[in-house]
This record gives sequence, structure tokens and C-alpha cells, in this order.
Amino acid sequence: MEYQENYKYYTDILAQWYDHLMQEEYKDIDFYVAEAKRSGEPVLELGCGTGRILIELLKEGIQVDGMDVSHDMLDVCSEKLEKNGLDSKLFHQAIEDMDFDEEYQTIFISGGSFQQIADYSTAFHTMQKIYKALKPGGQLIVDTYIPWPEIRRTNEGTWYLGRSAELDDQKLVINYSLSFDFMNQLQFGTYRYDLYKSDRLLETQLTQLIVKWYGREEFRRMLKGAGFPDVFIKNYQIINSHHYSSIYFCKKF
Ligand SMILES: C[S@@+](CC[C@H](N)C(=O)[O-])C[C@H]1O[C@@H](n2cnc3c(N)ncnc32)[C@H](O)[C@@H]1O
Repeated sequence: MEYQENYKYYTDILAQWYDHLMQEEYKDIDFYVAEAKRSGEPVLELGCGTGRILIELLKEGIQVDGMDVSHDMLDVCSEKLEKNGLDSKLFHQAIEDMDFDEEYQTIFISGGSFQQIADYSTAFHTMQKIYKALKPGGQLIVDTYIPWPEIRRTNEGTWYLGRSAELDDQKLVINYSLSFDFMNQLQFGTYRYDLYKSDRLLETQLTQLIVKWYGREEFRRMLKGAGFPDVFIKNYQIINSHHYSSIYFCKKF
């Protein structure tokens, strides 16, 4: 499976239910709102999805654009923007294809989304593009995690219970099965979405997602190679299910 198959992951049922599945996550919203304020406008969120974070920034009066490869996630985001009377430029594009020149003061990528560009060389070239898109004095903030608890407990071929959410008389339950390529630091996930209405199974969808993990020094070197010589790293578990999480603050001098 090529990592570009990931583009199909955040579509359909997952896009419709994403905000409900994530409703217990708020540390990342508070964190990125505070850091974007500190770092300055204009802001670009790469992998903005349904605008869970982007919309909170706009509510605080911060000018922020968003980019995402998933049409379905951006549709949800647009609906929420309209409902809240807010305005943001949304780019329907893969991050790898972005082409800005010194446009943003702050760029951020939340929720380990950068790790979904699971090919090292593409990830490196993408990081160079992100560097180019920042104004001098601007800052990239990106978080990563290492799926170490998953690696330790996984029996390949076994299904595990994941997140679930309820809405009126409907319920979505996620089950997943994982395997790993340790030499290339890749996690391969197969996810089954079971949608129930009044306890009756309405629909099942199967999707796949590849995630690459990075050692801290390895990621720092990628950032350095892309143009960020001096990176500050914070230990902070920003998403409840993301362990061994690091947040990288990368200034463009
Ligand atoms: C974990 S979700 C995070 C969404 C949002 N930032 C949040 O915290 O709610 C990852 C998002 O990144 C997007 N994404 C993944 N790979 C991408 C790529 N190569 N280019 C653009 N968007 C991408 C997905 O479509 C999805 O919306």
C-alpha cells in the first residue's frame, strides 16, 4: 500500500463523525490557540480537517487559513464556518503540493498529521516547502508521537476496540487491527467503522491508514535539513491516545 492511499481515510463516515469522536480532546485546541496567538498572524493550519482547532482560532479573532487533502473533512469545516458566521481561506490540497512564498507568520500541524506523509523523502521535501511558506521570523509548530504502547500490546491479526461516539439514536464504534514495519518505522492500521441505529447495525466501512514514527533526533535532523537550525522541543501529550508525544517549535531566522 502506498501512503497516498491515506488520502481516502478521512472521508465518508469518519468525516461525518470526526468531531463527535474527538469531543473529549481539548488540550490540543487550547494549546494551538495559545501558541498561534503568541507566534502571530497570518496563520496556516496544515491538515485542518473539520476545523476543530481552526474555528476556535477564528473565534479568538486570529486570521487563519486551512489546508486539507480531504474534501469531506473540508465540507464539514465549511458548514461550521457558515454556521458561525466566520470566514477562512480553505485549500483543498495535499500538503506535499503546497507552493507559498514567505506568506505565513505561523504554520502548525496538529494531531500527528504530518506523520501521515509516511514516505521519508516526500516528508523531507514537504518540510522544505513549509519552510519556504514561512515569513522570516515566522514559526512552524508540529507535534509527533510514537505508537509504542500499540507496538507493545499488538498481536497481529487481533482486532482492538477503538473510539466510539453516540449521536441521537445512532452510535459509531471503531475497531482496528495493526501491523508494523519496524525497519521503516511504519504502522499499518485497518479500521472498521460500525454504524448502529437503535442497536441495529446499519453500515460497516473498512479503511486503512499508514503512520510513520520518528525518533526525536531524527526529526530534529529533518527539520534542520529543511532550514530550521534551532528547534525547541516540548514534552506534552497533546492528544489522549498519542503517547511519547513531542512538540517541535521551529523558527525561521
Ligand atoms: C488527525 S486529523 C487532524 C485534523 C485537525 N487538525 C484536528 O486536529 O482536528 C488529520 C487531518 O490531516 C489531513 N491530511 C492527512 N494527510 C494529509 C496531506 N498529505 N495533505 C493534506 N492533508 C492531509 C487529513 O485529511 C485529516 O483531515
